[in-house]
Amino acid sequence: MITRRGFLRLIGGSVLSMVSLSAYAVGIEPMLLTHVKRYTLTPPHWPSGLKLRVVALADIHACRPWMTPERIASLVEKTNALQPDLIVLLGDYVDGMRLVTADVSAPDWASALSGLKAPLGVLSILGNHDWWHDYAAQVAGAGPTVARKALESVGIPVLENDVVRLEKDGHGFWIAGLADQLAIRPSKALGRHGFKGLDDLDGTLAKVRDSEPIVLLAHEPDIFPKVPWRVSLTLSGHTHGGQVRLFGYSPVVPSDFGNRYAYGHVVENDRNLIVSGGLGFSIMPVRFGVRPEILQIDLGQSRLSGAT
Ligand SMILES: [Fe+2]
Repeated sequence: MITRRGFLRLIGGSVLSMVSLSAYAVGIEPMLLTHVKRYTLTPPHWPSGLKLRVVALADIHACRPWMTPERIASLVEKTNALQPDLIVLLGDYVDGMRLVTADVSAPDWASALSGLKAPLGVLSILGNHDWWHDYAAQVAGAGPTVARKALESVGIPVLENDVVRLEKDGHGFWIAGLADQLAIRPSKALGRHGFKGLDDLDGTLAKVRDSEPIVLLAHEPDIFPKVPWRVSLTLSGHTHGGQVRLFGYSPVVPSDFGNRYAYGHVVENDRNLIVSGGLGFSIMPVRFGVRPEILQIDLGQSRLSGAT
């Protein structure tokens, strides 16, 4: 039979474990263990001789005390140090929860991002939170959002159902950016039921004028089943890998497909999707088993696929 002392030790031990686990999940993993997640692949339609390093930042969710302009500036420094050919931003720049001490204004997070430098430039898309936090855009059911204007004001183009053609090593390729799939929230006051996406995949891809390879940026990975084989690689964020992930399984994923597109490199029918675990938080300031990450993707290298 358990003694009183044993019981108190057990309770004390459990409390201590809970406190350490909480400290780890709230403070250490999300704030101190940012890492570079590396992938090396040669996807379909990728010309031999085109070696391209793309570095992607997803789900920054600027807010105090979790993602300050100073922390964003340090992520920018780490990103530049990877010597990317191209930097892409995968949406959700604004905060995604109520447990914050203060907002970070759009000019402040955009100014921190303005330090990103790459020979082929920096391109961006928007995420659902960039729309949801913009009351005027919600009422109008249309942009331009505050986030879009902030990015453009620091010289970062925003692709919403739009494409850009770039060139490296004598090869052309296209970056296509999808508008957000959950942009407009339901609202009783406005008579809207359900979420409304502004994405137009067919219209976006129709803007590609030749057979050169395409990299698609789509904040939510749920579009992936509809992405044609013609697209070499789709890059997404949004899920944060579930924020809690154990043994390759995330109990809660903001996706209609559950764990199918929760995190990492997914290959389906010879089509490639990489979902970033992102950098910030949604709902709760907790991460466990999904460290904040900067994505580095080396395309056109010899290994088929690899990650660290
Ligand atoms: Fe999102």
